Amino acid sequence: MNSNSLMSTISSWINRFETELQVDKLERKWLRVALGMVVLFVGSILLTAIVSGVHPPSHVETIDSASLHLGGEFAEDKLGVQAEALADGTLLVKLVAGRYGFYPREIEIPAGRKIKFRIASMDVLHGAHIPMTNMSTMIVPGYVAEVTTVFPKPGEYPMLCNEYCGMGHDHMWSKVTVTTPEDWRAPAEEIRHE
Ligand code: CUA
Repeated sequence: MNSNSLMSTISSWINRFETELQVDKLERKWLRVALGMVVLFVGSILLTAIVSGVHPPSHVETIDSASLHLGGEFAEDKLGVQAEALADGTLLVKLVAGRYGFYPREIEIPAGRKIKFRIASMDVLHGAHIPMTNMSTMIVPGYVAEVTTVFPKPGEYPMLCNEYCGMGHDHMWSKVTVTTPEDWRAPAEEIRHE
């Protein structure tokens, strides 16, 4: 069914509904405006999901934000780019967001490869956003924020906080360096080379 025949089917339904219920002319107009808005909103959600790969978080995972530093996967020595990639080759990056920064403050990742971010807040609500990319997520205390994305172009990107979190909110940012796949070294290799 093409979009024209879909639209005409919908408008014939509306006409039938309106004649059967004897809807007032003005009401009919507003009914169409409201329906048009629903179509517009649902359409834009579908469009961004399909074209730009924008997806809402698909799972809910809780964590005790107050004890992140005491151990577990968000302990200080386990943060950053993980030396061991996931089974499908995706690189795992673990970050802690806290007033006022994302820790570690600098990470280096390769372009063109799937990167899975797992981020937890140690205090209040933060947001992680890398401009000009589709990496953007809220980091709600008590939950693990997970985003998987690919950075197509090498370069230096800021990771900014985009949820107001206190006096230092404007200064809450960290550096993300995206290297070419050839220049990138896994963190474990880096230690061996230095
Ligand atoms: Cu963290 Cu704003």
